[in-house]
Amino acid sequence: MNFSRSLIEWYGHNKRDLPWRNTKDAYKIWISEIILQQTRVEFGLKYYFKFLQKFPTIYALSDAKENEVLKVWEGLGYYSRARNLHFTSKFIVDNLNGKFPNTYLEILSLKGIGTYTAAAISSFAFKLPFAVLDGNVIRLLSRYFGIKVPFDTSKGKKLFQQLSQELLNENIPDLHNQAIMEFGALICKPKLPKCDICHFNNLCYAHNYNLVKKLPIKQKKIKIKKKYINYLIIENNNFCFIKKRNEGIWRGLYEFPKIETEDSLFVPNSKNFSKYLKNKYSIIRFSDIILHKLSHQHIYAKFWHLQSDVNHLESCIKVRFNKLSNYPFPTLILNYLKHNF
Ligand code: ADE
Repeated sequence: MNFSRSLIEWYGHNKRDLPWRNTKDAYKIWISEIILQQTRVEFGLKYYFKFLQKFPTIYALSDAKENEVLKVWEGLGYYSRARNLHFTSKFIVDNLNGKFPNTYLEILSLKGIGTYTAAAISSFAFKLPFAVLDGNVIRLLSRYFGIKVPFDTSKGKKLFQQLSQELLNENIPDLHNQAIMEFGALICKPKLPKCDICHFNNLCYAHNYNLVKKLPIKQKKIKIKKKYINYLIIENNNFCFIKKRNEGIWRGLYEFPKIETEDSLFVPNSKNFSKYLKNKYSIIRFSDIILHKLSHQHIYAKFWHLQSDVNHLESCIKVRFNKLSNYPFPTLILNYLKHNF
């Protein structure tokens, strides 16, 4: 039996029942694919339902304020994805009469949509013959065919994309794409793959040559930057101050005023904050050091609760503690708020 037919047969017996697989609505498929990039299905499901409940149609999303979109996305990370979803929904409503485009190239031209997402939407919603290539597919192909070319090089990308396209069953690209990703997610997993029950194992190069742990190969090691952030929770009666970020990965989200330090965090010293806070203040309490790991950064953070009679802080808004949950925060701050307020 050929590779694709084998995969699809396996899929028929083993697939998870996931809501985006029971729809041909390009809008819903688009939302699911953006949520699922670098997010586990179990975690993404909750966001999928929440997002579609709040924005059931592309019109609802295009009408929303950015704050509302970020609030629903809160905790998922990669906030530029949410901003792009919002931007593209407006573009489709304003320029395409609200109709999601139905050709691969038009879909690919939308902001926030790359080759993977364009192939996924094209095949799932419109049955167009474009093969998906995501981490699951790369892992499976690399192991099965014994491909040792690093996948994050231009040569590797081209090779994997070509192979993926050659294997595609063009009559049922939707099923093929779902099947190959599902197989990568459930059997040919990154760690502890289930080679013992894999019905490709006797033909799998990596299995036969004991290379399962070595493949796929990645060339670049990402450099992790360390950051040290002292967050200032400046309390005045029941209020504190927050600030909207206007740059970086957390653009559009809110945070407490902060003082970044070079290579370690502040130690308790009442003078630490006097450069930032001209009014009289006192330190009420402070947190332990919190390590927050992102893909390219490790953030060491400490939250300082200060008591002050200050009423105005430049570019900050003054918010009642019990209204903080109306604003979108990065996970680092959200977790702190959850456990400390
Ligand atoms: N990961 C990315 N897209 C997916 C899909 N459609 N189903 C399951 N997992 C996925």
